[in-house]
Amino acid sequence: MPPTNLLLPLLLFIFQLSLLLEVSGVGINYGTVGNNLPPPKRVAQLLQSTLIDKVKIYDTNPEILEAFSNTGIDLIVAVENSQVSNISSNSSTASDWFTARIAPFIPATSIVSIAIGNEYLTSDDDKLDHNALVKAMQNLHAVLVARGLDRKIKITTPHSMAVLATSFPPSASTFAAMLLPTMTAIVGFLADTNAPFMVNAYPYFAYRDNPKTINLEYALLGNATGIPDPKGYTYNNMLDAQIDAVRSAIASLGFGNRSIKVVVSESGWPSKGDAGETAATPENAKTYNTRLIERSQSNKGTPMKPKESIEIFVFALFNENKKQGGASERNFGIFKSDGSKAYDVDLSCQFCSNTGGDKLEFGEKSSSGMAMNRGPSVWCVAKPHADEKVVQAVVDFCCGSGGVDCREIYENGDCFVPDKIHAHASYAMNAYYQMHGRNYWNCDFKGTGLVTFSDPSYGKCRYAQQ
Ligand SMILES: *[C@@H]1O[C@H](CO)[C@@H](O)[C@H](O)[C@H]1NC(C)=O
Ligand SMILES: *[C@@H]1O[C@H](CO)[C@@H](O)[C@H](O)[C@H]1NC(C)=O
Ligand SMILES: *[C@@H]1O[C@H](CO)[C@@H](O)[C@H](O)[C@H]1NC(C)=O
Ligand SMILES: *[C@@H]1O[C@H](CO)[C@@H](O)[C@H](O)[C@H]1NC(C)=O
Repeated sequence: MPPTNLLLPLLLFIFQLSLLLEVSGVGINYGTVGNNLPPPKRVAQLLQSTLIDKVKIYDTNPEILEAFSNTGIDLIVAVENSQVSNISSNSSTASDWFTARIAPFIPATSIVSIAIGNEYLTSDDDKLDHNALVKAMQNLHAVLVARGLDRKIKITTPHSMAVLATSFPPSASTFAAMLLPTMTAIVGFLADTNAPFMVNAYPYFAYRDNPKTINLEYALLGNATGIPDPKGYTYNNMLDAQIDAVRSAIASLGFGNRSIKVVVSESGWPSKGDAGETAATPENAKTYNTRLIERSQSNKGTPMKPKESIEIFVFALFNENKKQGGASERNFGIFKSDGSKAYDVDLSCQFCSNTGGDKLEFGEKSSSGMAMNRGPSVWCVAKPHADEKVVQAVVDFCCGSGGVDCREIYENGDCFVPDKIHAHASYAMNAYYQMHGRNYWNCDFKGTGLVTFSDPSYGKCRYAQQ
């Protein structure tokens, strides 16, 4: 009976391994209100080499659904506010919508949730009928049940914080009185179907509107002096307080101990704003989003539920130049429209439990374990203003122990001109990046590298691509 003796340890080992590999990934919102954004295929390629494993979009753009097929990235798609009423009319409009928009793309594209509307109940459009939202959710859920897809695909709807009557203290928070009937129906539906409650939570806007009374560190997801709640909780950052306010409002509806998961469907910080928006800087955006990403990968909960980790979707992937409203609305992106980073945020898998917290620089990491980027169209280049000394060290590393063939950037090579250190570094960094499997962290180079969607080749100087 030797096999049985071996089997148990082996199974235990596999079990432990699977626990180690279970990394809480990071979600991101991929909005497309811009006229200069890269094609969805390139976006999917870029994201595959990062720790982002969930992407939320605001419609069912077929190009995006197609681009994310077989990528291992989960998609949350949406019914636009304007379509909610149509889908609410009867089961056949809901079924037609599903047949036309979703059915052609599954299962190759992993659609895990359909968001019905976005901030529908607090939209300025007073033509929107609140009952239609609940009906549309029920109709689409019935379509999923009929097709046996209701366990894989969840129906929910993202709310703004404005659905709350008050949000402080968190333990005393309730939904706005006029929304109570609708909220009761929605929360009941979510509890019955085991779907999450989604909320878009922006400490940024709260801070912008009250910079004198709110501590910036508290808004920036830092560890500020605790603000006490009468029920004994202490809040060191506003996002926690906002999440717990939503929990209290849900609890106040009287669903007792039925647990409803709260997901932060949007949160972020703009890197630029109008004159009055002094906190909208690249530094603050970097601080907030770095903490947000660390937070969504940690198992940390909130004061009310310390053990329940929070799923978070960062807002947003790109700056969107056609968004209405103030300048900050167009500057929430981690990436600019050309695919370069708006500021430096680490999207490599540094905090994943399967990487043991290694520093991800100079490609000391093997390329196993993470989703690989095998697509044809991303390059790595030096940041234009990166420190020359560091850039020189990067070139020395790449052309030395890094193993890059640097002959093209030496005199008489096709990439010697322009004889500028940043140009030479771009060539060497890209070659290194392509050689090492194009993982995000292979284009870090102590913060001097950036991934780009446009081919840097010129004249006879050809940049490697895989
Ligand atoms: C469903 O609703 C649509 C749009 O309101 C309408 O055109 C259609 O006749 C309805 N179908 C049924 C079966 O009620
Ligand atoms: C209602 O939805 C159906 C199915 O998706 C679609 O064919 C129809 O054009 C929609 N009607 C309106 C008014 O948007
Ligand atoms: C936050 O600050 C307090 C007091 O300075 C400290 O005791 C606590 O460990 C800090 N928490 C974190 C998560 O850094
Ligand atoms: C939830 O509440 C119901 C009714 O109050 C009770 O019967 C049940 O035991 C509770 N379940 C848990 C897990 O606390």
